[in-house]
Amino acid sequence: MTARIIDGKAIAQEVRAEWKVRADALKARGITPGLAVIIVGEDPASKVYVANKVKACAELGLHSEHIALPADTSEATLLAKIAELNADPKIHGLLVQLPVPKHIDSDKILNAISPDKDVDGFHPVNVGALATGNMRFAPCTPYGSLVLLQKSGISIEGKHAVVVGRSNIVGKPMALLLLQHNATVTICTSKTVDLAKFTRDADILVVATGRPKMITGNMIKPGAAVIDVGINRLPDGKLCGDVDFDSAKEVAGWITPVPGGVGPMTITMLVANTVQSAERAAGK
Ligand code: GUN
Repeated sequence: MTARIIDGKAIAQEVRAEWKVRADALKARGITPGLAVIIVGEDPASKVYVANKVKACAELGLHSEHIALPADTSEATLLAKIAELNADPKIHGLLVQLPVPKHIDSDKILNAISPDKDVDGFHPVNVGALATGNMRFAPCTPYGSLVLLQKSGISIEGKHAVVVGRSNIVGKPMALLLLQHNATVTICTSKTVDLAKFTRDADILVVATGRPKMITGNMIKPGAAVIDVGINRLPDGKLCGDVDFDSAKEVAGWITPVPGGVGPMTITMLVANTVQSAERAAGK
């Protein structure tokens, strides 16, 4: 059996087109959805992510602001910038790219972003809203993974979904979103004893561990839907996921490639959250 490949690039384009219609409707009313992205320091991977976020906004005709601050920016200066953007009516979505330099308390920063503009969904108010089933902004990577399942026609209700990884950015919100869609959810961590026992029972397997190719075909249930959130660079310069694609595709029913799977969806859902935030602000 060879798995169907979930084409994240194609699905991202389709979803972006849907959100462009909604952005255009707002623009026709004189409201241009706006996103501000703050980056502190020179982390090369973060710089690429931020540039792509700003580019995606431009492609959809959104307003975007790219604020690059030096690595030695003080916490107080960053908090003041966040306060300014919280109050700026042109900005509907605001995020600070993580990680921030060590002298800055990231929790303090995430707490300072207005929950109404928190398009990353990282503010405790929005985390709580997701946990209690009143979602306002779902974190973009798990939200994009969910949309990939939905757009591929994979049913979630009643299925056993196993999430490997418990980060605040991916694993925990992914589990909550799947639970919200009536899956039976198991969260595994790096400490899980006999991980394969759990992964082999998964109808839906989401892997976000940051460990290259750690999930192999013999750990997957035949026919399962496998969502690989990992993006790792191998010594030869090639990118790979947390799933060993070659062995997994012989067992799974569906699988996301790396690159070209979850990656394109993350930024798409950031755009979606920004447009949705502007819709909410316009409705006020
Ligand atoms: N760093 C890695 N992923 C993310 C993300 O989704 N949002 C932000 N703000 N920083 C990140």
